Amino acid sequence: MDEQTLAASWERNAGGWTAAVRSGAIVSRREVTDAAIVAAVRRTGARSVLDLGCGEGWLVRTLAAEGCRVVGVDGAAALIAAARQAGGGTFHHRDYAAIAAAPTALGGPFEAIVCNFSLLGEALPALLYSLRRLATPRGRLLIQTLHPLHLAGPYRDGWRTEAFQGLDGAMPAPMPWYFRTLGGWVNLLVRAGWTLQALEEPRAAPSAAPASVLFVAVPANAV
Ligand SMILES: C[S@@+](CC[C@H](N)C(=O)[O-])C[C@H]1O[C@@H](n2cnc3c(N)ncnc32)[C@H](O)[C@@H]1O
Repeated sequence: MDEQTLAASWERNAGGWTAAVRSGAIVSRREVTDAAIVAAVRRTGARSVLDLGCGEGWLVRTLAAEGCRVVGVDGAAALIAAARQAGGGTFHHRDYAAIAAAPTALGGPFEAIVCNFSLLGEALPALLYSLRRLATPRGRLLIQTLHPLHLAGPYRDGWRTEAFQGLDGAMPAPMPWYFRTLGGWVNLLVRAGWTLQALEEPRAAPSAAPASVLFVAVPANAV
């Protein structure tokens, strides 16, 4: 039920989200996290990239402009339509359950698979396990997400609701999302066959709280 409401929220919020991303309305993205994920992909040296949960496609366009072959995939038809209209890469409309069932339908293998604030549901183990079939033998999985130690509320895995209050009514549909502790994230990766290679905490200044956490993993059999 929550997974369905989560998916439906992105269809309904697509216009507001596209405007917010393209206008730079989200300060933490503008000042910290956009640059952090682009730099992390650059450090891998990957020339082929899958952007999983690509939204309106800004990261696909950014990496394609640097000469990467980039495929974007997202479950929200309205966001994929916006991404295709802006161009820059190849885009597929597919949800994570469909990807987990048939990962290689997305092409690949990819030297980097990027999930930028896009792993929001509970049903991730099968998806992350399937992504190993989409990665090259030493392909990197990069996950940037909200830093669980810098959010209010109980520190335990579970569903929460995001109302996007900072976006002044641009996002009409509240979004259910599944909070994971740091241990929750690491255990999810390990159980899905990935080995954590780095954990970054991007921040605006050395003394500032992290704006996100960024995991870099490789297939376990590559280590
Ligand atoms: C916060 S947005 C991030 C979009 C993009 N990665 C960015 O950085 O702007 C989350 C995205 O994840 C996608 N998403 C979440 N759950 C999904 C699922 N189960 N299947 C496919 N896409 C999903 C949403 O449709 C949405 O585009």
